[in-house]
Amino acid sequence: MRSLHTFLVALLAIPATSKYIVPGGRWHDTNGSVINAHGAGITFDQKSGRFWWFGEYKTEDHPEGGGVSVYSSDNLSTWTSGGMALAPIEGHPYISPENVIQRPKVAYSAETDDYHMWWHADNSTYGLLLQGHAVSDTINGPYTFVDAVAPLGNWSQDFGMFTDYKDGRSYALYSNGDSANGRDVYISSINSNLTALEKPIYRFPKFDLEAPTILQTDKSYWALMSHKTGYRPNNVVAFRADSLIGPWSQPFIVAPLNTRTFNSQSTFTLQISGTKKTTHLYIGDQWDSNSVWDSRYIWLPIQIDEEKKTLSLDWYDVYDLNVKTGEWTPIKGKSYSAKNAKTKGDAYKQEANFATDDVILTGIYGNDSTVTFENVEGDGKPQWVSFYYQTGGTPDRIGGSWQLRRVSSVIVNGDPSTTQTLYQRDTHKGIILSTPLQLTLKKGKKNTISVGGLYNGFDYKGADLDRIVVYPAEE
Ligand SMILES: *[C@@H]1O[C@H](CO)[C@@H](O)[C@H](O)[C@H]1NC(C)=O
Ligand SMILES: *[C@@H]1O[C@H](CO)[C@@H](O)[C@H](O)[C@H]1NC(C)=O
Ligand SMILES: *[C@@H]1O[C@H](CO)[C@@H](O)[C@H](O)[C@H]1NC(C)=O
Ligand SMILES: *[C@@H]1O[C@H](CO)[C@@H](O)[C@H](O)[C@H]1NC(C)=O
Ligand SMILES: *[C@@H]1O[C@H](CO)[C@@H](O)[C@H](O)[C@H]1NC(C)=O
Ligand SMILES: *[C@@H]1O[C@H](CO)[C@@H](O)[C@H](O)[C@H]1NC(C)=O
Repeated sequence: MRSLHTFLVALLAIPATSKYIVPGGRWHDTNGSVINAHGAGITFDQKSGRFWWFGEYKTEDHPEGGGVSVYSSDNLSTWTSGGMALAPIEGHPYISPENVIQRPKVAYSAETDDYHMWWHADNSTYGLLLQGHAVSDTINGPYTFVDAVAPLGNWSQDFGMFTDYKDGRSYALYSNGDSANGRDVYISSINSNLTALEKPIYRFPKFDLEAPTILQTDKSYWALMSHKTGYRPNNVVAFRADSLIGPWSQPFIVAPLNTRTFNSQSTFTLQISGTKKTTHLYIGDQWDSNSVWDSRYIWLPIQIDEEKKTLSLDWYDVYDLNVKTGEWTPIKGKSYSAKNAKTKGDAYKQEANFATDDVILTGIYGNDSTVTFENVEGDGKPQWVSFYYQTGGTPDRIGGSWQLRRVSSVIVNGDPSTTQTLYQRDTHKGIILSTPLQLTLKKGKKNTISVGGLYNGFDYKGADLDRIVVYPAEE
C-alpha cells in the first residue's frame, strides 16, 4: 500500500505534508495546496476529537477580505482543508471581499450546542473597528454571519479569544485602536452562549500593543501581545497574573532580543494536554510585508518557569510533537559551515565574530556570485534543510519603501530544474536566523547545494549565510 501511495503521490506531484513541525516552512494540506490560514485560531473540538485551524484566507487580490478558511487535524501535522468556513459575500457591508476579515477565533457553546466565530471586522480603511460574529451548527461551517458590533461601545482592532479551562468561560481580547483615547488592550467576558460581550474585566492601559492571546497554566495566566509595527514583526511581550482580573505584571520580552520574535507576530496559543505533559504552543504569523498573502507560520513550544515567573520561546528548526503524550522532541540535523563553502564571482567569506565559525558568506548576488556547500549527505527523498542567514549588509528601507526580505535561489547538484526560492526575512545586523526549504538530495555524501541571489523588489542581493543544517527525511 505504501509504495502504491508513494507512487501516486509522485505521479500527481503533490507536495507531501510534513510529519514534523517546521516553523517558517511551506506547509501543505493533504491536497498538496499551501495552507492559507493567517491570524489563526485553533479550536480543539470534543465532538470530532480533532483540532480545527481557522484563519484568514489571503489572496493577492484580497489580502484582507478573502474570508475565513478552515483545516482540521488529529495530530497537528497533517491538515485537511475544509474549504471556506466564512466566505466573503459581494456587496455585504461587513464581509465583502473589500472588507477586512481578520484574526478569526471559534468557540463552542454547550448551552446552545453551536459554534461561534468572532473576528476583527472592518472596512478597508480600518475606520469601523468592529467585532464580527457568525454562527454554525457544525464546527467546519459554513458559518452564517450574525452581526458586526462595537464591543460595549468601544473600538476593536486585533482580536483574540481565550477560554478558561477551570470554568469554561470565554473572553474577548482586543486592542482598541490607535487614537489617543485608544491604545489599550481589553479582556472582556463573553456571555455563556457566546452571542455577546458582557463586561470588561481588565484593561492593559496605554501599552499600545496588539495581537493579544492568553494562555493558562495551573498557577498563572499569561497574556502575549506584539508591539504595533504593522506587518513588520517586532519583539512580542508577555504579562503574567494569578487571576484574569489582575493585577498583571509589567510586560517582558519573550524571545531573544532583535530576532523580532524569530520574525513573527503572535496570534494564538494552543494548549496540548497530553498524557505525560502539557505543552503550550506559540502560534505566530511570519508576515511577508511585500506579499502578505504568501506569509508563513511560526509555531514554537513555550517554556514556562512558574518559580521565576518567566515565559520564553526558543527556536527549533524542526521538531516532532506528539499530541497524545504532549511531548515534543527537537530533530537533530547535520551542519555544514560557511567556512568550508565554495564561493564564486563576487561572493566571499568575511570575518564575523557573531557567526558560528567566525566567518559569514557575503556578496551573494544574482546567478554569478553564488556560494556552494559541498559533500552534503542526502537521504534520496525530500528532507528539510535550514539556511542560517543574516541580512546585516542591507537596509530595511531604501527610497521610502520597506524591503523586509532578501530572496535567494537554491539549486541542488547544479541542476537548474531543482531551483527553489528562499525567502529570508530581515533581521537586525549580527542576528542570525534560519529559514527552511524541503529539498530532494541524492542518497549519499556527494550532493551540492548552491545559493544565489534573486530580485527582492530592490536588488538581486541574497542574505549572508552562516551555515546550513540538513535534517533527516521523515519516516
Ligand atoms: C497524522 O495523522 C494522519 C492521518 O490523520 C496520518 O496520516 C499522519 O501520519 C499522522 N502524522 C503523525 C506525525 O502522526
Ligand atoms: C481536495 O482534492 C479533492 C480531489 O482532487 C477535491 O475533490 C476536493 O474538493 C479538494 N478539497 C479542497 C478543500 O480543495
Ligand atoms: C470606513 O469607515 C469610516 C467610519 O465610518 C469612514 O469614515 C470611512 O470612509 C470608511 N472607509 C471606506 C473605504 O468606506
Ligand atoms: C474606549 O475606551 C477608552 C478607554 O480605554 C475610552 O477612553 C474611549 O472613550 C472608549 N471609546 C468608546 C467609543 O467608547
Ligand atoms: C444568550 O444569552 C443571553 C443572556 O445571556 C440571552 O439574552 C439570549 O437570548 C441567549 N441567546 C440564545 C440564542 O440562547
Ligand atoms: C541570471 O542568468 C540569466 C541567464 O541565464 C540572465 O539573463 C540574468 O540576467 C541573470 N541574472 C542576474 C541577476 O545575474
